[in-house]
Amino acid sequence: MLDIVVLAAGKGTRMKSDLPKVLHPIAGKPLLQHVLDTSQKLGESELIVVVGHGAESVKTRVAAPKLKFVDQTEQLGTGHAVQQTLTHLRDDAVVLILYGDVPLIAADTLQSMVDQVTHFDMALLTVLLADPTGYGRILRNAENHIVAIVEQKDANPAQLAIQEVNTGVMAVKGALLKRWLPELSNDNAQGEYYLTDIIALASRDGITVKGIHPASELEVLGVNNRRQQAELERYYQKTNADQLMEAGVTLLDPYRFDVRGEFQCGHDVIIDVNCVFEGTVSLGNNVVIEPNCILRNVTLGDNVLVKANSHLEDTRVENNCEIGPYARLRPGTVLKDNAKIGNFVETKKTTVGVGSKINHLSYVGDASLGEGVNIGAGTITCNYDGVNKFKTTIGNRVFVGSNTALVAPVTLADDATIGAGSIITKDVEAQELAIARAKQRNITGWAKPTKK
Ligand code: UD1
Ligand code: MG
Repeated sequence: MLDIVVLAAGKGTRMKSDLPKVLHPIAGKPLLQHVLDTSQKLGESELIVVVGHGAESVKTRVAAPKLKFVDQTEQLGTGHAVQQTLTHLRDDAVVLILYGDVPLIAADTLQSMVDQVTHFDMALLTVLLADPTGYGRILRNAENHIVAIVEQKDANPAQLAIQEVNTGVMAVKGALLKRWLPELSNDNAQGEYYLTDIIALASRDGITVKGIHPASELEVLGVNNRRQQAELERYYQKTNADQLMEAGVTLLDPYRFDVRGEFQCGHDVIIDVNCVFEGTVSLGNNVVIEPNCILRNVTLGDNVLVKANSHLEDTRVENNCEIGPYARLRPGTVLKDNAKIGNFVETKKTTVGVGSKINHLSYVGDASLGEGVNIGAGTITCNYDGVNKFKTTIGNRVFVGSNTALVAPVTLADDATIGAGSIITKDVEAQELAIARAKQRNITGWAKPTKK
């Protein structure tokens, strides 16, 4: 039985922000949400988050199954924070205590802590730091057993020299935690109820505290300011990039590759520099993404080429398509096999049929295009009257000449042809040629103006 308590009531003064600290993102996701997602990997558990500063926004901006919030209206210390959860904790559960601002803690590390509590009554995650400043120091006795934690502000010079520090993560039997929490006092340098004081109580009661180290020191780093936030962001992105490269993805520069969400891809994928992937992104085999592209909630099939500086959102692309450079595919865009979108083309809520092309300088919105359509440069669907949106329906093999305005609602049937420069306001039937522009007039012997 597992009860997980996440402390997230602190203000995060050093972030210098109106946003509660635990809502600041790493990889596009709130710090606290990272902790909640990791805790889900430990299987069935109760999940309690202690909130205080910005409680209302924290409650609405994170989610997890069976999540409960407990308010700590005054932040009187980490021990006080856990005291607020006492009535929710089960005697026979292992209670795992986490911090909402330590986002990259690994599930494996947490699992090994929980596992230790079946042999020992308590496990504490500690780490050796070259510079331990600011952290609580771990005190061990002659037998090398952990006997207490002393906070930086309460430590004497000898204790300050200790490099083993408290990460804050601990796992302990519920009944013991419930016994010790009411005994905490705030008689210390900060006038706070320190959770860390329960270690001395464990030692008093003859309970062994098993010290565990994380696989990587970075797992236990907290975010207290924007600099640390950026450091953890880079670490997260690099770790993710390394995993993808090991899985066979070519990243021209793993330091200029950012995933903010779920990313998956097939084999022989090449991603050039400065690309950002947000939301849920899935790439097929042999996909090439040129520099400076942003893909948000996008699915690409096999053999797709996305040329430089393209921006794709809520878009689905089938196989053998080519996009960009400088394309903007907005939500609701679907490209069928072999479709082609060229430079300075914007699409929205539009399906482009098999082998159809919109190669240059166009806006196509609320439209459906059949197969083998060619949309000339500078074609605009006039889909909006200022209040309502209207649809443009284009059949198979339609040819739209350059600089055409298609005033929706309008339908161009199969094999229709539109003369360049037309403003099309009426439907065009199959195989018709429509030309809707002023007739050209040539005036002979035209005298050019002269300079006055
Ligand atoms: C704490 C530990 C210290 C450890 C360090 C690791 C204590 C007394 N000290 O110190 O040994 O080395 O973390 O980072 O526990 N919080 C609440 N309510 C409160 C106070 C804090 O929810 O009243 C939350 C904060 O939001 C934060 C976490 O608890 O997520 C830790 O609090 P913080 O003030 O950062 O503790 P530290 O002084 O860093
Ligand atoms: Mg801290």
